[in-house]
Amino acid sequence: MTIRTKLTVSVTLLFAVALSTLGLIFIRLERAQLELQAGEDARIIVSTVDRAARDALVQRDDLLLLSYIKFLQQEFPGLSFVDVSWTDGERTRTHHIGRPREDDVDAKREQILKVKDPSDPARVVTLGIDIDEAYFKAQVDARVGRVTRDLMRLFGIAILVAAVFSDWFARSLTRPLAALSEVAGEIGRGKLGVRLEWKSNDEVGSLVQGFNQMSQRLEELDAMKRDFVSAVTHELRSPLGAIESFLNLMAAKMVGGRPSDPAQFQAYFDRIKTNVGRLSGFINDLLDVAKIERGKMECTLRTMRLQDVAGDVVQFFEAKAKEQGVTLQTRLDPNLSPVQGDPERLRQVIVNLVSNALKFTPKGGAVWIQAEQFRENGGRFLEVAVVDNGRGMDEDDQKRLFQKFAQGKNTNERVAGHRGTGLGLVIVKSIVEAHGGKVGVKSQVGKGTQFHFSVRMS
Ligand SMILES: Nc1ncnc2c1ncn2[C@@H]1O[C@H](COP(=O)(O)OP(=O)(O)OP(=O)(O)O)[C@@H](O)[C@H]1O
Ligand SMILES: [Mg+2]
Repeated sequence: MTIRTKLTVSVTLLFAVALSTLGLIFIRLERAQLELQAGEDARIIVSTVDRAARDALVQRDDLLLLSYIKFLQQEFPGLSFVDVSWTDGERTRTHHIGRPREDDVDAKREQILKVKDPSDPARVVTLGIDIDEAYFKAQVDARVGRVTRDLMRLFGIAILVAAVFSDWFARSLTRPLAALSEVAGEIGRGKLGVRLEWKSNDEVGSLVQGFNQMSQRLEELDAMKRDFVSAVTHELRSPLGAIESFLNLMAAKMVGGRPSDPAQFQAYFDRIKTNVGRLSGFINDLLDVAKIERGKMECTLRTMRLQDVAGDVVQFFEAKAKEQGVTLQTRLDPNLSPVQGDPERLRQVIVNLVSNALKFTPKGGAVWIQAEQFRENGGRFLEVAVVDNGRGMDEDDQKRLFQKFAQGKNTNERVAGHRGTGLGLVIVKSIVEAHGGKVGVKSQVGKGTQFHFSVRMS
């Protein structure tokens, strides 16, 4: 059974149950009201007969009383039988008006009225009155029956309207679900990133929104996977290819088991070393990311001088920067107070940030490291920034920077050195956070970039 049918049936059933309950209560109340009314009618009949007897006594006319009672019987068939005993001194005349009840064996009347003439106590009228309850009951039953039939007709129409309305309601509720299942099918068939256009401020609206986000995320993950495969292939293949060709060249330069041109040989050897370094760097990055994912990125903090580490890194990249025509310097105060950090890991952070800055800074540009102290929540921190006046990046790229394998659009332009894999900043962020610090970026396309991170001071 579809959700639409289930909803329609249950809403209609609920409506029917609610209406029947209300109807039953109404019919009961109506019956009670009618029964009360019948009792009141009976009392009015009795008091009318009583009044008529008094008038007849005053006028000394028993025939007037009899004809009035007969008239009353025609008007109110509930007045089934009346015994009239007219006593005038010694004389008593008795009359029976109407049909006595079938069980009227001992001629006991339901109501006995004794009316005396106030001016002559010898004249008395005794009235035995029978009220036909069956008549009143039949009247009540007939009225209740009519009301019930009217109500049933009304309920029939109301339930029909409820069924049509609940079907419309169920359809409008399930329409986005049906559309969602169709879009989910498309995603299942491999068409990632499809979106469902649906706007409403309710749970269905947020479900569709969540679904669209999921679809977008799946598309991003798919793109990430493709980027990863291409980056990995590239990062493995190019140094391996270079190593292979330098080895072939070296083999060609061997004469009698010795290098024919030792200087050239040394140059090839250095290139092989660089490529081996690049390969092992990439493998280390992959291992670090695997550690981060297992939550095992550990740092052993001790008191250390960050300016020394920054100086080392600048020295390490000096030749590369010169070759690129970029000035690289550290502007850290040599007397800076020490920080609490893991020197190896913080070196890795600065290496990643400086290598990025050099990668995205064209000839004639500058890259520098600066630092500033600040206080937060009673603690003293150092904010270290690696700044460049290179290509910069747009806001879209800035948002994705710290995701695995995420590389900005600026990597498509010609970058200095190898293209990279988009792991550097993931590692940076995780190391800084393991130190209890924060990492951030400010960048403007064409103007440059500043990456900064904080670390606690001793
Ligand atoms: N200084 C910078 N200037 C401009 N863009 C940058 C800068 N630093 C990082 N980015 C952008 O951030 C992206 C992610 O950097 P990240 O260091 O994580 O990866 P990568 O440098 O591309 O590769 P890897 O570091 O793994 O070799 C870069 O691809 C680039 O688009
Ligand atoms: Mg990098």
